[in-house]
Amino acid sequence: MRNPTVHGYDKLANSYRFFEKLMFGSDLENARTALLNSIPVCRSALILGDGNGRLLDALLSSQPGCEITSIDQSKKMLDIQQQRLSNHPLRGNVTWRHQDARNFEGFENQFDLLVSAFFLDCFTARDLETHLPRWLNSLRPGGLFYFVDFQEPDSGWKRMRSKLCLTAMHHFFRWQTDLPNRTLVNMNAALDQCALEMLASQNMSHDLICTRLYRVLTVEENDRSQAGRTQEKRQHQSSEE
Ligand SMILES: C[S@@+](CC[C@H](N)C(=O)[O-])C[C@H]1O[C@@H](n2cnc3c(N)ncnc32)[C@H](O)[C@@H]1O
Repeated sequence: MRNPTVHGYDKLANSYRFFEKLMFGSDLENARTALLNSIPVCRSALILGDGNGRLLDALLSSQPGCEITSIDQSKKMLDIQQQRLSNHPLRGNVTWRHQDARNFEGFENQFDLLVSAFFLDCFTARDLETHLPRWLNSLRPGGLFYFVDFQEPDSGWKRMRSKLCLTAMHHFFRWQTDLPNRTLVNMNAALDQCALEMLASQNMSHDLICTRLYRVLTVEENDRSQAGRTQEKRQHQSSEE
């Protein structure tokens, strides 16, 4: 049976860049690469849902010794990624996998770097709760997560502006790709559940977009950080009493 989401992205693939430019100018383009130079040398990377492959292209050039696996469920998007890199001298460093990232298995502790740009917002909160930890699990202990996506500023005119932009975007993707979300999924809630330390962060487009570099905590570091948080909570409670 035809999957309407996959079919939608296949249909959109050729015009994706045009619509992006129309809606956001060069903001998404700038956000994708904002912190690429902050990523230390990596030997392996997994990039999820990179669409027409602009971040993949930039990553390949900035990490010449890195073997990259690129997964996308849209065959058409993967074709465009391959065309884009057809003359890239490091093209041989990329492996393409055409599949639903939710069915991604057997890659525990494999990669130094996980990359997702405007990908996590394609999922529901429930999907993220299930799959984000699994995707992060593909990283070696201490591995890095390069994350680029939309966010909602807390208050003021920036929040109003973001609501307008995000509503237009959700309508568009709902129409084109059957996106289940009507509003921006709370990605921070999902990220906060994971054992991550933020190393660098940059907001763009009046805080509508964020680019972040995280490091996955080791089990020991995570235990220590949780113990610290519990102690802080207790101290806070006793100071309130
Ligand atoms: C909104 S586009 C973002 C594309 C690109 N990362 C960018 O920065 O513009 C989402 C991409 O993720 C892919 N995608 C969405 N859901 C997916 C899934 N479950 N598994 C694999 N790829 C998926 C789509 O085919 C599309 O290429």
